[in-house]
Amino acid sequence: MKVTKAIIPAAGLGTRMLPATKTVPKEMLPLVDKPVIQYIIEEAVASGIEDILIVTNRAKSAMDDYFDYTPELEDRLLRAGKTAELEAVRRTAELANIFYVRQRETKGLGHAVFRARNFVGDEPFAVLLGDDVMMADKPVTGQLIAAAEKYGASCVGTQRVSPDAISLYSSLKIEPLEERVFRVSDMNEKPRPHEKFSDYAILGRYVLTREIFDILADTEPGHGGEIQLTDGLKRLCKVSPMVAVDFEGRRYDTGNLAGFLEATIDFALKNDEISPFLTEFIRNKAKTL
Ligand code: UTP
Repeated sequence: MKVTKAIIPAAGLGTRMLPATKTVPKEMLPLVDKPVIQYIIEEAVASGIEDILIVTNRAKSAMDDYFDYTPELEDRLLRAGKTAELEAVRRTAELANIFYVRQRETKGLGHAVFRARNFVGDEPFAVLLGDDVMMADKPVTGQLIAAAEKYGASCVGTQRVSPDAISLYSSLKIEPLEERVFRVSDMNEKPRPHEKFSDYAILGRYVLTREIFDILADTEPGHGGEIQLTDGLKRLCKVSPMVAVDFEGRRYDTGNLAGFLEATIDFALKNDEISPFLTEFIRNKAKTL
């Protein structure tokens, strides 16, 4: 099993970040010096992905512009001798083979993934949610691909969340296979406390096999009237092997303000240029709080 294709669903409406996301896609909000989606594409590339399909909608054309050349700007940077800036700008257009498909109606994550069926063909593929950013030494998608390949299975990324938080996620029914890897036998989306299987939540990364498309094709709308990927995965894990990887790394949900701010601070503290200033600023600020 070799995984070289990835889908980034990025067609959500971003209602938790309004009004900022009224005209700017949430995936294009800057995390320090790059838009959110660039971190996700860089993770995919570092995990061995070559072809990436971004699921967009009519309000998100800023994304395809961003991953294209900008001749006038590049020419100006070249003539001004701004080579570092020129390289940074060129690099965004050369990160990977990036393709786009529109989700014409916002009918849920499962529906968005289904839009990728022709792109994927028969190969297993990765899914990286467009607003979930990871900070990890080993790219998180790569950690999932390794487990999917080892077990010949589909794979979901997981981490343990607090008992109070699990109702915001999909809860997994799992048994341990080895350190950090579990066999998945069931799951449920946004469970009420008595419905949860465990506090292990699916968090933003998946490696899936082609069977998911046949399943999604006849999955009825579920929670929130949308076609939920979890409802499809629940059926997938019953007909073919699925594992979960308790991945090493920290996940940030940049689709809500608190997660976005946490990510901004943590990535800024990792950035050599801005970190000395920010550390000093935070120290001084903390004294006044
Ligand atoms: P979210 O629920 O986090 O995104 O979906 P959202 O719908 O934009 O969030 P709100 O409006 O603030 O609650 C998880 C992922 O699925 C994508 C989103 O773009 C995000 O990456 N998605 C969601 C789609 O591509 N299409 C959909 O119909 C729904």
